[in-house]
Amino acid sequence: MTPLARSSLPTVAEAFLRSLPKAELHIHIEGALEPGALFEMARRNGIDLPYASVEALRAAYAFTDLQSFLDIYYAGAAVLRTEVDFFDLAMAYFERAAADGVVRAELFFDPQTHTARGVAMGTVIEGLARACREAGARHGISADLILCFLRHLSEEEAFQTLEQALPYRGRFIGVGLDSSERGHPPEKFARVFARAGELGLHRVAHAGEEGPPAYIESALDVLRAERIDHGVRCTESPDLVRRLAAAGTPLTVCPLSNVKLCVFPDLASHNLPALLAAGLKVNLNSDDPAYFGGYLLDNWLGCFEALPLTRADAVTLARNSLEASFAPAAERQAWLAQLDMAATGR
Ligand code: ADE
Ligand code: ZN
Repeated sequence: MTPLARSSLPTVAEAFLRSLPKAELHIHIEGALEPGALFEMARRNGIDLPYASVEALRAAYAFTDLQSFLDIYYAGAAVLRTEVDFFDLAMAYFERAAADGVVRAELFFDPQTHTARGVAMGTVIEGLARACREAGARHGISADLILCFLRHLSEEEAFQTLEQALPYRGRFIGVGLDSSERGHPPEKFARVFARAGELGLHRVAHAGEEGPPAYIESALDVLRAERIDHGVRCTESPDLVRRLAAAGTPLTVCPLSNVKLCVFPDLASHNLPALLAAGLKVNLNSDDPAYFGGYLLDNWLGCFEALPLTRADAVTLARNSLEASFAPAAERQAWLAQLDMAATGR
C-alpha cells in the first residue's frame, strides 16, 4: 500500500483525505474561538483584553501542559456574552468543518465557564443549538451538542449545571467530562453521570490524555462512558488495550492537541499507528482548533505527513468516526455508503 506522504503525493493525497466523509466527535466549541473573533467579540461587548493585538494573543499560545492551556482558554471564553456570540462562534466552526469534509459534528460546550460569569444557560444553549440547525441548512452538516462538566469543580456543581440545563433537554444529546484531568478521577462524577444515563443522555469522558490508564478504566466502569476522549495513554496497559479493542470502544484522538500540550514531542512520535495496529476504534479530531494550530483536515494532513499511514488507514479512520457518532442509524448508514464510494473513487 502506498503511503500518503504529502511530499510524494501532494495534491492527490490531500484531495483524497478531504473527500472522505468524516465525523468530528471531539471539538470544544469554545476552543474554536479564533483570535480575530475573540478581539471582535471583546470590542462589541465592551471588554478590555490584556493583549495589545491579535499577534500578541497568538504569541501567548505556547503551552507546556493541559493546565497552561486551560488558563488561557477559560480567559478567552470570557468574551462570549450573547446568544449571537455563541451562534457566530459555532457557525464559523461549521464553515471550516464543511471545507474539511465533515458531515457530522458533535460539539462539546462548557456551560460552567459561562454561567459562572452570569451568562444564562439558555443564552449558551439556544445560540449553539440554532447554529447546529443552521449547519444542516447551510452546509449539510448534521450537528448536535454534548454538555461537558468541568472536572476541577465539584460533583455538586455538576448536578446544579445539569439541573439548569434540563429545560433545554431536547437541545443536547449527551454529557462529557473535561478540564484538568490529573487529580480529578472519573469516580468524582459517578452519581451525576448515572443521573444523565437515567435521563437518556449519551455519556463520554476525557481520560488518558494526561491521566493514567486507570482513569480510562473508571470512565468505562464507573461513568459507563460510550466513548473515551483522547485515551492515548491506554498503550501503557496491554490489558486495557485488549479490553478496548474487544469492546470496540471508540477513542477520539486529537493529534495536534497532543503535540501542543506536550503529550507527545511531535507528530512523528504519536502512537496513532500503534493504536490502529492494536485494532482500536480510533478517529481523528481537532479538540481546540483555534489554539492548537489547525482544524480537522490539518490533523489528518499532519498525521499522514509525519506517520507511516496508508490509504486503507485513512478509510478506517473515517469509518471509525462515522460509526462512533451518535447520529441516527439511517444517517450513519448513508455516510458509510458515501465513504465506500469515495474510497473506491466511484
Ligand atoms: N477543555 C478543552 N480542551 C480540553 C482538553 N484537551 N482536555 C481537557 N479539557 C479540555
Ligand atoms: Zn478535549
